[in-house]
Amino acid sequence: MTVDYLPLPGTPLEEIDTPALVVDLDAAENNIKTLQRWCDENDVAARPHVKTHKSPYWALKQVEAGAIGVCAAKVGEAEAMVAGGVQDVLVANQIVGPVKIPRLVALAHRARIGVAVDHPENVKDLSRAASKEGVEIGVLVDVNVKIDRTGVEPGEPTVELVRKVADSPGLRFDGIMGYEGHVSPKDQAETNAVELWIGKLEAAIIAVEEAGYPVRVVSGAGTSTYRASGSHERVTEVQCGTYVFMDGAYGPESPEFTNALTVIAQVMSRPVPHRAVLDIGLKSMSVDSGLPQVMSRPGAAIEKLAEEHGILSLHGQARNLDVGDRVSLLPMHGDTTINLHSHYFCVRKGILEDVVPITARGRFR
Ligand SMILES: Cc1ncc(COP(=O)(O)O)c(C=O)c1O
Repeated sequence: MTVDYLPLPGTPLEEIDTPALVVDLDAAENNIKTLQRWCDENDVAARPHVKTHKSPYWALKQVEAGAIGVCAAKVGEAEAMVAGGVQDVLVANQIVGPVKIPRLVALAHRARIGVAVDHPENVKDLSRAASKEGVEIGVLVDVNVKIDRTGVEPGEPTVELVRKVADSPGLRFDGIMGYEGHVSPKDQAETNAVELWIGKLEAAIIAVEEAGYPVRVVSGAGTSTYRASGSHERVTEVQCGTYVFMDGAYGPESPEFTNALTVIAQVMSRPVPHRAVLDIGLKSMSVDSGLPQVMSRPGAAIEKLAEEHGILSLHGQARNLDVGDRVSLLPMHGDTTINLHSHYFCVRKGILEDVVPITARGRFR
């Protein structure tokens, strides 16, 4: 058996071994409060997406702050949340196939479970499984409001699918999901993206209600769009994920949230004067949205990440960096970086408060 050497609460930040996924608790808790306050003031519910943090520890903090439940992308994520005590999970995604569907419906014995659908055969499969299991699943019909990723078109295709859901035993038609994707506030201001996606959402709601099906739930939006969507009178819940920690890519767009997540690395070699090599690489830091940003080390920049080596180029005073020195890095994409780690090291005012397992890490089935 291998042993994971985990530090004890009370350990100073400087003594936590590297690479370490560190969360500033004050900053993350403040982000949770900031979104919740906005939701409360705008009469819309928060249903944060756990694809970012992948941990019931954070989901329960979000619920404690006032969230009505959470979203998950995968059955595996939903299972990890329910196992950790989360009572209300919407799988804001299509769940298909003979292995996943029974797992999804079985969860309904232990929590309130919802799912998004966009295909009649999938509705049939969910209904059969839920009836067999003797449970009821809440269903949102996913409407393609912008990104052509999933969803049916507003109008007759949406109504047809709603009718199918409403007529299916074991399923409860709750409403509509319309996820518009990442649209920066700048693009929202400069283009008519908001009117287009909100227009599609409105068209779907009107068509479904005219057909006689009340739309109680309208769910959508993320960290960059929650204001535009959440202030619409028919949108009932927002699904923000990244806001909890923010990251390098999203940060500049949503200044109301603070970067709360860093990865601490350590210099392991100084092969030449203009280069330090860190004990971090592609196995502990994602680069799908760009190379991480070096915090508070003027003159130091990540040049490249290999599997287990982080190449840091050094200029000016950064050339004083020595083997054993620590460097704090801001990931450009938090979600994919978190998925590489097994624990959060949660720090308050420089002292470790909690070591939190990332139980939904890698739960992509
Ligand atoms: C269905 C769904 N809801 C909400 C989100 C919001 O995420 P974020 O706040 O990270 O943009 C996403 C992101 O991929 C998503 O796929």
